[in-house]
Amino acid sequence: MASPPPGYSRLGIVSGWTLPFLYVAHSAVTIMLARTDRLLPLREELRGVHYLVGGLILVAVVLRLWAWTRERPAPPPGLPASAFAWGRALALATLLLLLAAPLLGLVYAWADGLPVRFGPLALPQLLERDRALWQAAGYFHSGLGFMLVVLNLATVLSAGLLLLRFGHGLVSAFPPGHGLFAFLGLSSTVYAFATFRSPEPGPVAVGVFWALAAGVAALAWWLGRRRAPRAVSRRVSPAARVAAGLGAAALLLFGAAGPWLLFRVSPFSGPADVAVVDGVDWHVTPAVAELSIRPPDAFERQVEAETFKWCRFCHNLQPGGDQHKVGPNLYNIVGQRAGTVPGFAYSEAMRRAREAGLVWTEEALAAYIADPQRNMPGTTMIVSSGPIPDPKVQAAIINILKRETAPRGGHGRQADPSAAPAGEERPAGEAR
Ligand code: HEC
Repeated sequence: MASPPPGYSRLGIVSGWTLPFLYVAHSAVTIMLARTDRLLPLREELRGVHYLVGGLILVAVVLRLWAWTRERPAPPPGLPASAFAWGRALALATLLLLLAAPLLGLVYAWADGLPVRFGPLALPQLLERDRALWQAAGYFHSGLGFMLVVLNLATVLSAGLLLLRFGHGLVSAFPPGHGLFAFLGLSSTVYAFATFRSPEPGPVAVGVFWALAAGVAALAWWLGRRRAPRAVSRRVSPAARVAAGLGAAALLLFGAAGPWLLFRVSPFSGPADVAVVDGVDWHVTPAVAELSIRPPDAFERQVEAETFKWCRFCHNLQPGGDQHKVGPNLYNIVGQRAGTVPGFAYSEAMRRAREAGLVWTEEALAAYIADPQRNMPGTTMIVSSGPIPDPKVQAAIINILKRETAPRGGHGRQADPSAAPAGEERPAGEAR
């Protein structure tokens, strides 16, 4: 792990080594943001910090890219030119992603009608609320996050191999700061994946990752002591450059599919098919005469914090017609026919379920959230924290859902029996 190869400018080195630290701060805020309930005031503050750090990253990236255009670095001794070109391609792809992400993030917030503040400074709202734009910008904003994960993984794996083979790893095989950026970025990804449900497994998962990395570094050091210096090609051929660029582009394409692969989110929704389904009124009229709702207990609060927050992540629960997120507005959902919220583009599977007469009784809800993909093959819903097979958790989720989506003011007592459609005689809420 020698010092970085010569040929870098001072500005390139400073901005390059600044980025990993900004990125770690940004990851920490983003991980907290995704896990903070939308209803908490803390979330608004986190959103402000998220924009602030995102803006600082944008500044550092612009400086780094500007320096990049003026640098002519050479591979360090012992590192083949092709490996050097590969490291540069990964770093450049990362910088371009970091340039695009904050800009897409702005469009995403504006199209959602959210105000944008950089700390205390409020930005003017430059775009109208627009659901299609929101969906596309949101997809690619989080898609860029996935692409970064893929690039970070490629960088760290390449560093391991290059370290074992040539004695150049995270620090010296890549442009200044890029190896640390990838390593810290991947650490925060490991943490994020380990903590979808609850924070406990996070530190252990990161510890295991660091121990593995330390093992590779120790092995490389041991091998390096016994290796004779060898001559390697020092000229970066155009072919090596092109191959490295194509490889990085392929990684980007793969990363771009991430939100779809993981959450079945798509950047473009088809036409919303529910104009009006016989008498559906944005679910304003309760479908069930009387919802019985249990008061929350400790277990339910835990389920709310660990699992239900993900429902809120994708669904609006308040009245407000077309206020859909990735999933449809769930206001007053219990007892309604499936797939009938106007203005939402449902999957083919959900449309078929509607045609077949599926009604969201408690049993139907429990079966759906138990494993959406298995229960309704082709549905676009994925519960981010994983399937919910445990009947106790299902019951808690449904109780929360009832409380949160019941008509305003109605804490479980909607005394308008005329609103119950025929065939739905059973009060939907007998406690289990
Ligand atoms: C990652 C996003 C996401 C998460 C998390 C999520 N949903 Fe969904 N949900 C969707 C999408 C998308 C649909 C539309 C599915 C379709 O058209 O096939 C949907 C549909 C539904 C429906 C049917 C609505 C209707 O109009 O018929 C219900 C009920 C539902 N979700 C409840 C839940 C509950 C409860 C949770 C939490 C356990 C949850 N969802 C978590 C995205 C999500």
